[in-house]
Amino acid sequence: MQFRHEWIEKNAFLLLVLTVVTVAIGGIVEVVPLFTIETTVEHVKGVRPYSPLELAGRNIYVREGCYLCHSQQIRALKDEVERYGHYSLAAESMYDHPFQWGSKRIGPDLSRVGGKYSNDWHYAHLTNPTALVPETLMPRYGFLAQAPLDYQVIERHLAANKVIGVPYTAEDIAHAREDLETQANPQADTAALLARYPKAVEASGNGRVVSEMDALVAYLQVLGTMVDFADTTTEQLQQ
Ligand code: HEC
Repeated sequence: MQFRHEWIEKNAFLLLVLTVVTVAIGGIVEVVPLFTIETTVEHVKGVRPYSPLELAGRNIYVREGCYLCHSQQIRALKDEVERYGHYSLAAESMYDHPFQWGSKRIGPDLSRVGGKYSNDWHYAHLTNPTALVPETLMPRYGFLAQAPLDYQVIERHLAANKVIGVPYTAEDIAHAREDLETQANPQADTAALLARYPKAVEASGNGRVVSEMDALVAYLQVLGTMVDFADTTTEQLQQ
């Protein structure tokens, strides 16, 4: 055995081939199961694709780099669960492209911030964080309230997400613009919107111009609220 090993080591080409074969085996074992990702991530009741306004808000979140200071992943550790709530389930970020788990927490985890504060709190906090939390390091994002949201191509955002596996229906895509405007307008009738996107929270915009902040707040308000953890165990939630 030792003799053969010496022979391999002295034969550079053979060593190279055998190294590649060995590494390939490891790679295949790690990578192939991911091709069946649909079955790897179990679907959990309540998890739905983002509404058009939430999706637009999510794009603002990514554009502004909020993930550089905020994670969206509660680990299954006692202190995290006590502070932020139920640990994150894989299914809760299955429609996130790209996911926003993050690796830094200069600010708190945001994966369950939905419903924690009112819309008004978010508008005030994003506009001037120090007015609410004097010692905060968070920058001001007041300009988002002045910036009209560009949603000319919102249908295509939904369609693009559909291509990579988010189950938007043709009807969802056809109604994208209407749903977005409905959610941004506190006076609008939300019955059709809520039938398509349960628990969607209306923004507190002025109903005339949809701002980037309206979209961002609608996104923040849905984070972590889709799954109902009250009196059910994780096992019961899995369909
Ligand atoms: C430089 C780091 C930094 C950046 C960038 C940042 N934040 Fe923050 N954020 C903080 C800190 C620190 C806090 C905690 C104090 C506070 O509430 O302001 C915080 C708090 C928050 C809270 C309240 C969370 C809670 O549970 O109380 C929300 C919501 C929030 N940030 C949203 C955002 C959004 C949205 C963006 C991107 C537009 C953003 N943050 C960008 C640092 C940051």
